[in-house]
Amino acid sequence: MTSQSSVPPDVVALDDYERHARARLCEQTWAYVASGGADGLTLRWNREAFDAIRLEGRVLADMRGADTSLTFLGERLDFPILLAPVAFQKLVHPEGERASTLGASAAGAWLTVSTQASVTLEEIAQAATRPLMFQLYLQSDRGLTLELVRRAEAAGCRALVVTADASVNGVRNAEQRAGFRLPEGVSAVNLRPSHGPTSRAGPGESPVFKGLLDGAPTWDDIAWLRGETKLPILLKGIMSPDDALRAADLGADGVIVSNHGGRTLDTLPATIEALPRIAERLEGRVPILLDGGIRRGTDVLKALALGADAVMIGRPYLYALAVAGAVGVIHALAILRTELEVAMALTGRARLADIDRSVIWRP
Ligand code: FNR
Ligand code: LAC
Repeated sequence: MTSQSSVPPDVVALDDYERHARARLCEQTWAYVASGGADGLTLRWNREAFDAIRLEGRVLADMRGADTSLTFLGERLDFPILLAPVAFQKLVHPEGERASTLGASAAGAWLTVSTQASVTLEEIAQAATRPLMFQLYLQSDRGLTLELVRRAEAAGCRALVVTADASVNGVRNAEQRAGFRLPEGVSAVNLRPSHGPTSRAGPGESPVFKGLLDGAPTWDDIAWLRGETKLPILLKGIMSPDDALRAADLGADGVIVSNHGGRTLDTLPATIEALPRIAERLEGRVPILLDGGIRRGTDVLKALALGADAVMIGRPYLYALAVAGAVGVIHALAILRTELEVAMALTGRARLADIDRSVIWRP
């Protein structure tokens, strides 16, 4: 962990933050942050799938008045990049989520506060000058879930991001090998102590099915939640067109195509591979965000071309936070935003609405 706050001179791309973060973080924290589930295949595919897509360059387009703004949940965003929920940010910076929020707000980006944030939601909201969303893990006790929802409402959060793809932890072998445990002073301060599912398996019984999943959320809980709050609900972790449609039918205000950055079920496809069918099925009924492997402005362009309205980044801003605090987060967002503008200019797309499938090169 470091409290340095200047950007190393050789940081010019998001991967440079990753390299510097790796050199600064201890082996255990690195394993928690950087690794994927099981063999890390989905984690790798998230990147490889973006890399395999080629773009069709277009020249001499009229770019006067070009801009990257969009309307999202009724509000104007200057650019289509948001910050995904990332737990326990004090692992990488002493100010944790307070610092990333300062950076996000200064850069003009929305940040999603994790249910497992290591700073209280109220302190984070005080640091924010731009909208926040709250990522909700439905608790096995609906009363406790509602407490979190009311706090998110009171803190002025603009939406609930309900993460649906982590009812149990993935097979986190890299963390296990490194012996990762939360260090003293880093905890999920927004949750009541000792709450959470524990296995109640007797001898010979399944540790997963007996206990861990007893209180796991189902579609009924989404319907219930819809009736309990006026906040927009975005369902995160959608990888199937059927689930996307079901979310929209239940009144979700958007879906987030995500495989949890490859951290839950290994061998899920890359999110950019899952996106087109989901977008086709939704037919524009609700906005679509995508995360997983976004590292370059060209990745943002590709996601928009294949049906996303905006993207989220996870690890990249955590790495920037680790290396240079709030300034790093501002810088990382500026890099990605500028790269998107370059990609739009060189593919001749003056506005986000002009970014369609014809931007993708076909042999
Ligand atoms: C996450 N992610 C996550 N998602 C969520 O809904 N709640 C959470 O608390 C967390 N915590 C978390 C911690 C860490 C260390 C990482 C790396 C990720 C998943 C996150 O929101 C997002 O889906 C992925 O990080 C996106 O992939 P990239 O951008 O990291 O490749
Ligand atoms: C993770 C949980 C916190 O990805 O969502 O580590």
